[in-house]
Amino acid sequence: MTTLYEGAFAKLNLTLDVLGKREDGYHDLKSVMQTISIRDDVEIDLGTGKPWTLECSAEGIPTDSSNLAWKAAEVFCSAMGKDPDGIAIRITKRIPSGAGLGGGSADAAAVLRALNKHYGSPLSVLALAELGAQVGSDVPFCVLCGTAMVEGRGERLRKLPDMPECVFVVCKPDFSVSTPELYRKIDSVAIARHPDNTAMESALLAGDLGKIADLIENVFDPVVTAEHLELNYIKSICNSYGALGMQMTGSGSAIFAIMPSFEYAAVVCNMLKENYPNVFIAMPV
Ligand code: C5P
Repeated sequence: MTTLYEGAFAKLNLTLDVLGKREDGYHDLKSVMQTISIRDDVEIDLGTGKPWTLECSAEGIPTDSSNLAWKAAEVFCSAMGKDPDGIAIRITKRIPSGAGLGGGSADAAAVLRALNKHYGSPLSVLALAELGAQVGSDVPFCVLCGTAMVEGRGERLRKLPDMPECVFVVCKPDFSVSTPELYRKIDSVAIARHPDNTAMESALLAGDLGKIADLIENVFDPVVTAEHLELNYIKSICNSYGALGMQMTGSGSAIFAIMPSFEYAAVVCNMLKENYPNVFIAMPV
């Protein structure tokens, strides 16, 4: 039996625009995504000689074939014609789920990376990312990692310059948002403000953190905030300690803020922890 170890990193959407609904029911997106240091740990035993299993340290996460990490192993083995003779996956969970942080997709991407490495890297990173699209829309980016422009359903990736070093505070409130429902809602509202992805790309190229922070924008943020005003409370705490910019990530419900220093991030983190169990300090990875 062999055991593989792989880190699974969360993502933030620095920008997220929904361009329109497609014939397949999905939506065309344009989003600048960023990998951050909040991580799950994924361990995979190969050659157990037993039926496949999955364990997760957090409650409420499916431990059967509906888990994206399990699906990723299935997709990889079937695409590459591999039979590992039994797989046991163990996930140590730190990325909160239902947050828009891509936790399930990160675990799936970690499984794809680990299996690809184990079998001698038959797939390039981009080919592995393409395979990841069969598992979920955020999986391709989670395979690639870093800073990237993500388009289509989530499968078209273009590497961007690394985000400058900075400190994020990430806070997940106690409610979660159903992603399909949110996409249905966005179809029925007029989007008032679209992110300026071109300007964001230039700001990244210039390494200008102030501009990057000014340009963070997510079309889902006002839709979710309209029903959950506590997002404004979280933002106001970040704002009062000098946040350069703040926004919801993905389909929510987590808010992230770019803070001016680690010290301010620590103060905000401690304040938010009085009300919320899931508050983190994170860096770009
Ligand atoms: O691909 P994934 O399973 O992560 O998507 C979850 C749901 O989010 C989809 O069923 C769909 O309702 C919505 N979605 C979408 N357009 C995208 C990504 C997700 O409509 N580009």
